[in-house]
Amino acid sequence: MKYMSKVSGLWSLYFQFLFLTLILLCSLNSVLSRKTSSFARSEYPSVDIPLDNEVFAVPKGYNAPQQVHITQGDYDGKAVIISWVTTEQPGSSKVFYGDVEGTYDRSAEGKTTNYTYYKYQSGYIHHCVIDGLEYEKKYYYKIGTGDSAREFWFQTPPKIDPDTPYIFGIIGDLGQTYNSLSTFEHYLQSGAQSVLYLGDLSYADRYEHFDGVRWDSWGRFIERSAAYQPWIWSAGNHEIEYAPHLGEFITFKQFLHRYQRPHIASKSSSPLWYAIRRASAHIIVLSSYSPFVKYTPQWLWLYNELKRVDREKTPWLIIIMHAPIYNSNEAHYMEGESIRAVFESWFVHYKVDLVFAGHVHAYERSYRISNIKYNVTSGARYPLPDKSAPVYITVGDGGNQEGLAGRFLDPQPDYSAFREASYGHSTLELKNRTHALYRWNRNDDGNPVTVDHVVFYNQYWASNRRRRRLKKYHSSLNDMSYIVTY
Ligand SMILES: [Fe+2]
Repeated sequence: MKYMSKVSGLWSLYFQFLFLTLILLCSLNSVLSRKTSSFARSEYPSVDIPLDNEVFAVPKGYNAPQQVHITQGDYDGKAVIISWVTTEQPGSSKVFYGDVEGTYDRSAEGKTTNYTYYKYQSGYIHHCVIDGLEYEKKYYYKIGTGDSAREFWFQTPPKIDPDTPYIFGIIGDLGQTYNSLSTFEHYLQSGAQSVLYLGDLSYADRYEHFDGVRWDSWGRFIERSAAYQPWIWSAGNHEIEYAPHLGEFITFKQFLHRYQRPHIASKSSSPLWYAIRRASAHIIVLSSYSPFVKYTPQWLWLYNELKRVDREKTPWLIIIMHAPIYNSNEAHYMEGESIRAVFESWFVHYKVDLVFAGHVHAYERSYRISNIKYNVTSGARYPLPDKSAPVYITVGDGGNQEGLAGRFLDPQPDYSAFREASYGHSTLELKNRTHALYRWNRNDDGNPVTVDHVVFYNQYWASNRRRRRLKKYHSSLNDMSYIVTY
């Protein structure tokens, strides 16, 4: 008996040793699989495209609508907000629309606004909500009058359903340089159905007097996409435009006049933070530059919104904001730390899938990590692997006039999986409730080249068993560019 218990004790020790070795090897592997890509592509000088370039062309005709863009107009994707600008006179704010090309059997009346910013006087900015739309249907719409009328179309999303496939594009910090144009044209080829925009739009605040003319040119620049598919907006620091020296004290003035959000539908008190549901995703938009500490309106709103998330209907919980929480670039290092301290434990508790941010003009993807143990007096003071945590992705590489952020911290922190200082954009292809294909596409000699290619498993639906099965399947695809993230 004594002998048997000794043998079983030895076996137990042996298995413990094996187990610890395995853990050690796994963590070593995790450390070894960090990657800083040495590739650095800056194809064009970081200067804005001149205003007389055709990419900013003003549409022909007296008072013709320009800068046409749409965004989701409600919580669940059955409404659209259509916005445009007229310059000579207010004109009509009416949208004619229908589901047969050229037959506009319905109409909706919008509203007109305008503003001054220092010496700049904006055009007449129109916003019109059209609602009660059917899911998964192509609608045609017409704005403007007479010979100056313009026609566009958009496709409504599929109904809210956990397994409905959907493709989001992800763009940040775009600006209006030749690099921005390269990113934008690559995005147009991507097949994505709407854009999650990560803040910093026109960079008009880089001009003397924060020239609104560059807000106008940016609106015309993105129209080729934004008039046809919704761009979901979050605010960056370049939208703040707080300029007491110019007598401008209202923050986000130009941005908020031009780009509307359906914030009331998600019970938000501000268009700077809100949520929408689209296909199989629940998208939460946060504002890095609005109060977020405990008891502020944004904090209170997020507290309640996270409770409203129903992963049975929308398995994919995605957060977008401007300043990254995990960033190992020297540029803007630690700027997301304060918002991390407030919200990160919620992100882990609610098993957020992905957090996208911009701001840093480079690309970076983290592992699933969290830093929620530290409490000032004790606990781990650095990020640790955490299966419940989101993956943090920085896509601030749209191509604006400030150029690339090429200096990463050395050595690369353990939490950072991949990073590269090049321009580009991402796509997120939600396949069903269990997995999604993600790509970061670098601008490379006029072509979009997929450099970071990941299969993400859903944090709510993909059980360990299902993850193992999916991993086996994805490995069998024999495509070495796939990296599976647990
Ligand atoms: Fe920024």
